Amino acid sequence: MRLDKYIVACGVASRKEAAQAVRRKGVTVNGTVASSPDMKIDENSDKVVFCGEELVYQKYIWIMMNKPQGVISATEDARGQKTVIDLLPERLQRMELFPCGRLDGDTTGLMLITNEGELAHRLLSPKRHVDKVYRFESARRITEEEIEKAAEGLVLGDGYECLPADIVADEEGCGGRITLREGKYHQIKRMFGAMDNRITGLKRVKFAEIELDPSLAPGEWRYLADHELALLRNH
Ligand code: URA
Repeated sequence: MRLDKYIVACGVASRKEAAQAVRRKGVTVNGTVASSPDMKIDENSDKVVFCGEELVYQKYIWIMMNKPQGVISATEDARGQKTVIDLLPERLQRMELFPCGRLDGDTTGLMLITNEGELAHRLLSPKRHVDKVYRFESARRITEEEIEKAAEGLVLGDGYECLPADIVADEEGCGGRITLREGKYHQIKRMFGAMDNRITGLKRVKFAEIELDPSLAPGEWRYLADHELALLRNH
């Protein structure tokens, strides 16, 4: 890999800044001052020090974010709305990360963000039926009969037949947890619409085996731990 690309991939500089640092003799490869930004290095074995900092190369990045309301799950937005990528530090914004799946603007909670297209694609494939669990609040209480209908597969207003969804309602009040095995546009809102009910709050709390870290406030993020990543890879 080219040295300047490697520095960018480590998330410490832009390509231009990497080239400038090399020209100012601020970069060493295995203890020797780097001669040119386009010199080839072995990303698996060479030790690169950038402005005094030893770089750690990670080919794939996986982040969990507690998505806040009003932020969209896209890499950029034509209307200038804030995206989940905008909430990350600049060094990560340069790394071609994208959200693994979609949440509505007003839905909060677990959003996975990565640059590993193949695994993300696999997890999102409609054939895989990866479980997604949401905490919901609704305009009125959901009945036992409706829970049974959802477990059999609701039919939406446009005739779409949903896969069976599990709903566990709170004992009191208008809320509970719903588990989906698919992810159609506005699916939960449309399911509740089909039951003459309305979603008033939606938060994703689990994707596959990954649970939202309760210590993350809205807008906060952290890297996935190795054991969490292993759960995704083995899913
Ligand atoms: N279902 C919805 O209606 N909205 C979401 O954001 C996710 C699932």
